[in-house]
Amino acid sequence: MNIVLIGMMGSGKSTVGRLIAAKLKWKFYDSDKVIEDEQKMTVAEIFAAKGEAAFRELETRVLSRLAREADCVIATGGGAPTVETNWKFFGEKSAVVWLKSSPETLLRRLERGGAQSRPLLKDALSKEKILEILKNRERFYQRAGFVVESDGLEPQETADKIFRLVAPK
Ligand code: S3P
Repeated sequence: MNIVLIGMMGSGKSTVGRLIAAKLKWKFYDSDKVIEDEQKMTVAEIFAAKGEAAFRELETRVLSRLAREADCVIATGGGAPTVETNWKFFGEKSAVVWLKSSPETLLRRLERGGAQSRPLLKDALSKEKILEILKNRERFYQRAGFVVESDGLEPQETADKIFRLVAPK
């Protein structure tokens, strides 16, 4: 099986995903990073040069490939669950976990850096913007089989929580 982490930008999917993978001795993939390596462009450059729709196509292509792997942890981009096709790939043999954080926590984390590399927040980082994105996405995130709240937790604590919940016995 695989573990697929979904959730908002700044929810810690990559940091926490890496920790879970280390604990399980599984492979770790960050879908944004896979896209960047393959395209030899950053996510921000892809958005600027080709637009969001083109980025979503690349994302779906990468997720469809990763879904065929076994025993890996996949951190997805925050918008991936809004694309219906991606659920086919998440759902095949994965535990899908929504890493849920409050807008305040997300804002705090994103303010520490990382907003610049995220085209949807570049020049627009505010609690209102986060709330607006969250409002549009919550119904997709709610489809996850597991929900893990990470407010007030260190990444390792969140990883341990997920491990207890979904790791194969
Ligand atoms: C996006 C989230 C980003 C990245 C892209 C779009 C989104 O990934 O895929 O900037 O639509 O929420 P992270 O969630 O890893 O920041």
